[in-house]
Amino acid sequence: MANVVKLPSSKAAGNNSSGGATVQSGGGDTLTVTLPLLKGTVGPAVADVRALYKNQGVFTYDPGFMSTAACQSGITYIDGDKGELMYRGYPIEQLAEHCSYLEVCYLLLFGELPNRTELEKFENTVMDHTMVHEQVATFYHGFRPDAHPMSILCGVTGALASFYHDSLDIHNPRHREVTAYRLIAKMPTLTAMAYKYSVGQPFMYPDNNLSYAGNFLRMMFAVPTKDYEVNPVIEQAMDRIFTLHADHEQNASTSTVRLAGSSGANPFACVAAGVATLWGPLHGGANEAVLKMLQEIGSEKNVPAFIAKVKDKLSETKLMGFGHRVYKNFDPRAKIMRETCHAVLKELNVKDPALDVAIALEAAALSDPYFIERKLYPNVDFYSGIILRAIGIPTPMFTCLFALSRTVGWIAHWMEMIGEPDQKIGRPRQLYTGPVRRDVPNLAKR
Ligand code: ACO
Repeated sequence: MANVVKLPSSKAAGNNSSGGATVQSGGGDTLTVTLPLLKGTVGPAVADVRALYKNQGVFTYDPGFMSTAACQSGITYIDGDKGELMYRGYPIEQLAEHCSYLEVCYLLLFGELPNRTELEKFENTVMDHTMVHEQVATFYHGFRPDAHPMSILCGVTGALASFYHDSLDIHNPRHREVTAYRLIAKMPTLTAMAYKYSVGQPFMYPDNNLSYAGNFLRMMFAVPTKDYEVNPVIEQAMDRIFTLHADHEQNASTSTVRLAGSSGANPFACVAAGVATLWGPLHGGANEAVLKMLQEIGSEKNVPAFIAKVKDKLSETKLMGFGHRVYKNFDPRAKIMRETCHAVLKELNVKDPALDVAIALEAAALSDPYFIERKLYPNVDFYSGIILRAIGIPTPMFTCLFALSRTVGWIAHWMEMIGEPDQKIGRPRQLYTGPVRRDVPNLAKR
């Protein structure tokens, strides 16, 4: 038997009864409908409301998508209560430990881990696309040197569409695949160029003999006048950071890429929309805020006072890097970040007081009833800023690195969506609260 889902009335959802229609059924202010339940492979069931408007004449209301699945997807699964994250069924902890970022990219794009031959071919293909057209360099010079690197990245990613007219047929699977290679390969180049431009150093060409992460580090930190050797510990840490950020199912930027792509927009434009969304402080900018907070706290002895301030609602202070909309348990990425953070600081022999403050803060919060009751745990951003700073990446670049890593997730979702046979343009409905119909008064009478 089908399950019954009770929807709140349009009044209860905040409709203005004088301005819009109130749908009532059975004389009450609730509407009782029978909805089919869809089951995924894991996770909660999903009430299928697709025929609701056609059959009942009502929409559903869910700003912020608190209870709405906007699509079907077979890429990433999160169980926020258990603190579980899986790409194509593989736990993130295992992928971070055993696979390179490019292996993970292959998995996200094609659904299975590559064998040795497939991986080698994939790595070679991606690395063959790392260069950008020489003319791209001239775009950078159009930006002010103090431009935020995310504004540059947003612009140049979208601009790539003007270089690849030969492969912009989104209905051609081969074109889609080539575009995926290009985007994954060129984002590190574009990101490093944004950094080089901001510090006034010459752009470094990619070196395809290096690993994906090693090549990125070289493009960031090498200069043409000196040899540069990639530190393997930092290279591995960078690769792991890329993996941890590669995908996170229907987050704001991924949903934006899907929505933009649903109109048939080209993938470079869609990824530029993803970069723009990620730029927001509620999404990609939190690790920057964590670092600022740790610096403000300054020393371990100030931790109790800071915790007290966070618990005082009047202070409007949050413990940045704690809490998550989906995870009500440890963010599994945070645990790996903590280990990586210790490894990087040890390798570089960096004594960062921010790390001591972070450790003390984490311990204090995890044993405090305020955080325990609200299920607030460290998220992926709690330790990543410390690692990036130790590597020498300036704070404004943090979100660019997130964008670089997430590009594969965006493009995997875009490919999944475009490949669906009954793919439709994304077009949400609304709960109208504006004026009801009225006639335009004569100008003299207004
Ligand atoms: N510090 C102190 N209190 C917090 C925190 C925090 N970091 N996060 C949530 N709370 C409290 C809220 O004040 C609220 O308390 P109340 O019940 O007494 O009113 C309760 O916990 C529930 O919080 P919500 O805001 O409802 O949680 P929501 O799921 O909407 O927010 C969010 C999640 C935005 C991430 C929030 O936890 C936060 O602002 N954290 C700090 C910023 C941060 O680290 N963002 C990065 C997220 S990870 C990422 O985007 C990659």
